[in-house]
Amino acid sequence: MPMPIKEFAARRKALSELMAPDSIAIVPAAPERVRNRDVLHPYRQDSDFYYLTGFEEPDAVLALIPGREHGEAVLFCKERNPEKELWDGFLMGPEGAIEKLGFDDAFPIADIDDILPGMIEGRSRVYYPLGKDKAFDSQVMDWVKTIRSKVRTGAHPPGEFVALEHTLHDLRLYKSAAEIKVMARAGQISAEAHCNAMKRARRGGHEYNLEAELLHTFMSHGARSTAYPSIVGSGANGCILHYIENRAPLKDGDLVLIDAGCELENYASDITRTFPVSGRFTDPQRAVYEIVLAAQYAAIEAVKPGNHWNHPHEAALNVLTQGLIDLGILRNMTLDEALEQEAYRPFFMHRTGHWLGLDVHDVGDYRVGGAWRVLEPGMALTVEPGLYIAPDNLDVDEQWRGIGIRIEDDVVVTKDGCRVLSEGAPKTVADIEALMAD
Ligand code: GLY
Ligand code: MN
Ligand code: MN
Repeated sequence: MPMPIKEFAARRKALSELMAPDSIAIVPAAPERVRNRDVLHPYRQDSDFYYLTGFEEPDAVLALIPGREHGEAVLFCKERNPEKELWDGFLMGPEGAIEKLGFDDAFPIADIDDILPGMIEGRSRVYYPLGKDKAFDSQVMDWVKTIRSKVRTGAHPPGEFVALEHTLHDLRLYKSAAEIKVMARAGQISAEAHCNAMKRARRGGHEYNLEAELLHTFMSHGARSTAYPSIVGSGANGCILHYIENRAPLKDGDLVLIDAGCELENYASDITRTFPVSGRFTDPQRAVYEIVLAAQYAAIEAVKPGNHWNHPHEAALNVLTQGLIDLGILRNMTLDEALEQEAYRPFFMHRTGHWLGLDVHDVGDYRVGGAWRVLEPGMALTVEPGLYIAPDNLDVDEQWRGIGIRIEDDVVVTKDGCRVLSEGAPKTVADIEALMAD
């Protein structure tokens, strides 16, 4: 179910329409990165570059030149090379990029220093990822210097350099139907992986046994990478927000917090579920869990057009804070006082969500002109309240210590509310216990 090629052309057109007249956008592919000695990390394309090209190889640059007579979308990429391809795999080559990906024009990357300055010349403004990568910044300046060296022959170097992100990241924030389809599939695969990890937990073992189960499910569906390192934290490890050691033995009576999602066609999913190793919640675990779940439902309810970005967070905070008061964890204060003093902070120290898309913490402004952004159809985000009661917090009753719970789903704003993309993973106490008893 690959993304239709016309989708990438439509994105380039949308960006072109937002660019100033007489401008050019230059977007580089991600570099390859060394893991150790001559072993590279698995290659992951730059999200901005991928969004505009659909091209998955390194050593490539997109030039988008609205109004250029010989073609507006130009790709520089590696040439085909049968001998090299025998070792390292297929290269699309400039001709292939035109034919398969619909670029108007394409050239070997080896010729970029000779060709690109001529394309920049005469354009007054250059959009590029300014300040993101030192080497690319200096490459852009070298191309400009080449033009400056020719001013006496009438060449016009550009005068304005603009961060591409402002324009491009606003486009990326609104997901198309095709993007939502891929993200929903990623959510479905990840939800299945969480179900399999829950079932596996009853056999005991270590946190990494559950991580293996997740990876197995992702891979089995062709999602060859996670969207971020999987968090599998049992017992008090569930209170460590970015715990990725995943080595501890699973103990009966403990909860496990799993925050894991696959990446599919470069789109992220991001799901958290918390469940008991034994398959049955203890009373204190259930009491805290029900509060987090109620907070998550309240936050999801608040994801709808017209509400602003902070609405779901405020809804979650209300429920979590009231819950902490009801449990006696927060004492001697009213809900308003507790919210005012942020008394919930030792137990809930992160936001209720973030944008989701090609990047797990996706691009897009959360505030516009100083005010929280208003939610609109097509925006995708996570909803992930939690409560984390530190094992060494002597201010709370012993029964609560070391309980860490988060519940996270992926949602997309629709015209009258939102659609949950990750609902295949159970989250009520009854549904989790039923699945694990199976
Ligand atoms: N897994 C990263 C997050 O939930 O934000
Ligand atoms: Mn997460
Ligand atoms: Mn998240």
